[in-house]
Amino acid sequence: MSGGLLSVKIRFMRVSDVPAIVKIQEAVTRRKVSREFGRKVRNFVKKGGGLSLVAEVGGEVAGYIIGDIKTWGFGVEESGWVEMVGVRPGSMGHGVGKKLGGELLKNFHAKGISSIHTTARWDWGDMLAFFKSLGFELSEFINLEKNPRR
Ligand SMILES: CC(C)(COP(=O)(O)OP(=O)(O)OC[C@H]1O[C@@H](n2cnc3c(N)ncnc32)[C@H](O)[C@@H]1OP(=O)(O)O)[C@@H](O)C(=O)NCCC(=O)NCCS
Repeated sequence: MSGGLLSVKIRFMRVSDVPAIVKIQEAVTRRKVSREFGRKVRNFVKKGGGLSLVAEVGGEVAGYIIGDIKTWGFGVEESGWVEMVGVRPGSMGHGVGKKLGGELLKNFHAKGISSIHTTARWDWGDMLAFFKSLGFELSEFINLEKNPRR
C-alpha cells in the first residue's frame, strides 16, 4: 500500500498550519468543516507537548496527526489517544500516514505512555487498515452510544 516514494519531513504543528489542515480535512471528508474544527486543532497546537505533528511533502503540509494524553479517562491512569489524522488525497498511499503515526507513537512512548487508543467507525476500512499497520488491535473497551431521541 505505502509507495514510500515521497520525501516526507515530519515536524511539530504550528498555528500557521491550521488552514492547510482544514483544507486536508475538507478534501478527505468532501465537505466544508465548521470553524470549530480549526479552533479545536489550534487548541491542540497551543497545548504543546509534541503530540501535534504535520508531514511536509515538497515544502507543503500533506498530512497531520494529533494525539492527546488523558488522565484518568475510562479508568486508565494515563492513556494516549490519537484524536485526528488525515493525509491529502494526492499524497495518500505513499507512507505519509505511517510516518506520522510512527512518530506520534514514538513521542507517546518517550513520555512513558504505554496504553494508546483511538476510535474509528467500523466502516472506515482505510482507517482501520492504517491503524492495524501501526500495530493497533481491538481493545478491551467497547463503545456505547445513547441517542437522546430514542
Ligand atoms: C488513513 C490515512 C490516514 C492513511 O494515510 P496514508 O498516508 O494514505 O497511508 P500510508 O501510505 O502511510 O499507509 C499506511 C498503511 O495504511 C493502510 N492503508 C492506507 N490507506 C488505505 C486504503 N485506502 N485501503 C486500505 N489500506 C490502507 C495500508 O495498510 C498501509 O499499510 P502498509 O504500509 O503496511 O502497506 C489516509 O489515507 C487518510 O487520511 N484517509 C482519509 C480518511 C478519512 O476518510 N477520514 C474521514 C474522517 S476524519
